[in-house]
Amino acid sequence: MPTALRLALCALLALLALPSAGCRRLRARGGRVESASVRQGRALYARYCALCHGRRLQGYAADHANALGNQHFLSLATPGFLRAAIREGRPGTPMSAWGRAAGGPLTDAQVDDLVAFLRSRARRPLRAPAEFVPPGDLTAGRAAWAQHCQRCHGDRGQGSPVATSVAHPNFLSTVGDGFLRTTIIEGRPGTAMPSFRTLPPATVDSLVRLVRTLGIPPPPPPERFEPPPGLDRLVMNPTAPPPNFTLREGRFVPGAQVARAIAEGRRMVILDTRATSDWSRGHVAGALPFPFYDIEDMARHLPRDGTWIVAYCACPHAASGHVVDLLRQRGYPRTAVLDEGITWWMQQGHPSAYAARLPADAP
Ligand code: HEC
Ligand code: HEC
Repeated sequence: MPTALRLALCALLALLALPSAGCRRLRARGGRVESASVRQGRALYARYCALCHGRRLQGYAADHANALGNQHFLSLATPGFLRAAIREGRPGTPMSAWGRAAGGPLTDAQVDDLVAFLRSRARRPLRAPAEFVPPGDLTAGRAAWAQHCQRCHGDRGQGSPVATSVAHPNFLSTVGDGFLRTTIIEGRPGTAMPSFRTLPPATVDSLVRLVRTLGIPPPPPPERFEPPPGLDRLVMNPTAPPPNFTLREGRFVPGAQVARAIAEGRRMVILDTRATSDWSRGHVAGALPFPFYDIEDMARHLPRDGTWIVAYCACPHAASGHVVDLLRQRGYPRTAVLDEGITWWMQQGHPSAYAARLPADAP
């Protein structure tokens, strides 16, 4: 039945005070009809995604989280592409793996609700751009990359503070050549991604081929990890003296001071504010997962005796800053954001730990 007819019928049933399940599932929003899945997806988005991608899906609320509401993006982003991106994430970037199978908080049904919500923001139908791209010339592709792309996406396509990565195996294994070529030609108006309409078609083909080879190796099979220890293990070195932190702007603790406090065995709490899936793949030694989206429930587990609490994320300040703000509002003044974030921490070789991997066939 066409939507307009269904709404009219619902209005009639409501007049007659005859409730109908079908009607309850439909809600008009700004003149558009919304399914229960879209509504749930919107709530999930506000809780888990808005911190980085922005309340209005405009992107760049934190870091280089792209504009999910961009119409050029949505006209190419199929439900399958979005589902994979949300479930598996882009480990190694601030984009966590959100699916349960990868250790994240969301069930498959919740991921589908998010996909339904994102798709509902598209104002034009999905396009299926021609997937056949003639094999371009790699040498020409490399030269064009250095000239036009490297300054934003990095020499190996690893991304930068202003642009997403285009070399992540989870991206390359789910994106089509047509998506790549159309994005290069049209850009993403409203974001920093320019249009390269003026490049000769053969150069664009060479760039597509080059992007395909920027490859980092193919994605490993989804990993499963031991669950994290209980929150009774939050306080490190419970009987030791506290660390001596000097905060920048009254808020940020330099990583070197935290590394020293760990080496000296000081009493403190370190919170990993990313999704649990990220904690499993590598965290500051002694830190427990304390995801930013669960802070309302979890704050009550923290000691109220003036123990220093350090929060960190990959962003490097968005999720951790959100947690520190909330804790300070709740009367925890001795809180700090780890200034450089976890990526820097691991690159420095500071003490890190990993969850034990479960064998693939474990129940
Ligand atoms: C901590 C910040 C952060 C949070 C929270 C976050 N993202 Fe992301 N997201 C990013 C960043 C950064 C990227 C780009 C990663 C890269 O460089 O490859 C990204 C990439 C993506 C992409 C891939 C886009 C593309 O074209 O490749 C999708 C889809 C996405 N995020 C959806 C979501 C959804 C849905 C949620 C909530 C469940 C979410 N993100 C939560 C930071 C975040
Ligand atoms: C001025 C900076 C800038 C330059 C130069 C640039 N890009 Fe981008 N590019 C971006 C940004 C920012 C995005 C993400 C936009 C968004 O929010 O959707 C992006 C997105 C992309 C995407 C989609 C990635 C995804 O995850 O959806 C591809 C592919 C891409 N760029 C390729 C290129 C190529 C190839 C070149 C050179 C011909 C290039 N870009 C030049 C900034 C840039």
